[in-house]
Amino acid sequence: MNHTAQVGRHDRHPADTYEQILERDSRPVPDYLREGRVPEVGVEPVAVDRYFDRKFFEKEARYVWSRTWQMACREEDIPNVGDYVIYEILGKSLIIARSAPDRVQAFYNSCLHRGRKLVTLQGCKHEFKCPYHGFTWRNDGTFKENPIGWDFPQWEGTDQSLPEAKVDFWGGFIFINLDRHARPLAEFIKPLADDFDRFDFANRYRAVWVQKKVRCNWKATAEAFMESHHSMATHPQILPALGDANSQYDLPNDHVSRHFSASGVSSPFLPQLSEAEIFAYMTGQGKGGRRALADDAPLTLPEGETARRQMAELARQALAQETGYSYEHAADAEMLDALLYNVFPNISVWAGYVSNLIYRWRPNGLDPETAIMDVMILKACPKDQPRPAPAQVFELGLDDPWANASHLLGGLAIIFEQDMGNLPYVHEGLRASGTGFVHFARYSEMRIRHFHKMIDRYMAEGAAGAGETL
Ligand code: FES
Ligand SMILES: [Fe+2]
Repeated sequence: MNHTAQVGRHDRHPADTYEQILERDSRPVPDYLREGRVPEVGVEPVAVDRYFDRKFFEKEARYVWSRTWQMACREEDIPNVGDYVIYEILGKSLIIARSAPDRVQAFYNSCLHRGRKLVTLQGCKHEFKCPYHGFTWRNDGTFKENPIGWDFPQWEGTDQSLPEAKVDFWGGFIFINLDRHARPLAEFIKPLADDFDRFDFANRYRAVWVQKKVRCNWKATAEAFMESHHSMATHPQILPALGDANSQYDLPNDHVSRHFSASGVSSPFLPQLSEAEIFAYMTGQGKGGRRALADDAPLTLPEGETARRQMAELARQALAQETGYSYEHAADAEMLDALLYNVFPNISVWAGYVSNLIYRWRPNGLDPETAIMDVMILKACPKDQPRPAPAQVFELGLDDPWANASHLLGGLAIIFEQDMGNLPYVHEGLRASGTGFVHFARYSEMRIRHFHKMIDRYMAEGAAGAGETL
């Protein structure tokens, strides 16, 4: 990896680094978890109008969302020929359809006659017949029928297939790109795809899907999940087992950023806790969260053992019981830690063997002031058993609390409630700014700054390509 112009250690919290914590673990440190590329990204203030200015928002639509890979759904959402779901972004609507066993297409959901959406609910169809005047397309997008064909001399001899967006795949996810000339997804996400090989994401199913509308710009919403030190003020109850200030941040490539936070060690912001106290805290959390304990898990910490190593071992046993696979090889970090990877512009995928959180953020329709956040939980398909059906979406409106989804999210509901509790006030505060600027920390908010630099880069390149000035 390229370590040129790394941010220096003097810029970090003086506590142990993430790697130093991993050196004391029960398994060797997997190489991919070590710190990678940490370029100097600067310390300049960033103007707040990018969070609410409609012109900026329109440029994002034109130059960022129109040219980036976006996760649209899972392959398990459309397992059979004819199955389709709808993915919407900034007023665009796409039908993601399986038109053959090995073929998925993404059609613009707009009738070529007078524009009606062809479908408004997901389903299974072998042709798309517009409900307005009955013009019909086959599910591979080719034109089939015009009931008033005699009156359309202008269409004679022309191809009236449905226009398509580009489709690509990774880890059981289906991505789309509105740019028909986009380079393959793999070129953008290679570092993530390489690291995730070991987790076999295609063999996971969506166990939970909650979608929340948020009173906050999509970027400020995403930023709430790109660093760990907000836990100190926002989630103080988790500090006994979260190495927040020890977190590691890096940028494997321009489209993939990561941060890793250790679990099973206490926050450097707290007075030192004993291993027994950390272990008691973690086992006291019961069966909620990502690391369910087995019913018969021993709840005393063996002499000389650390809370982190012991919790990882209990997590290995519980997961083996649940899935039928062995996790003997799994590093403690892969059983315990918050290992967040982001793919620009808008998804985050948690690595690890325990259930994986997936986040997706996007604008809510054409509104820069509200966003949609999806939270999914992927679990390993149990060995030698039929693949469980994927969970369908559970929707939370702008004013619905996450507690309404606690039957799905367990103890995570309170964490998301705490995060979301900030966000309307973040948005209002950005608008209320007396300086017109926000400031990002040099190392631990590097991912956020880089995210904004990428938006700027796409906008500059797009504008240059279009012969426009920003
Ligand atoms: S708008 Fe679709 S058939 Fe007329
Ligand atoms: Fe949070």
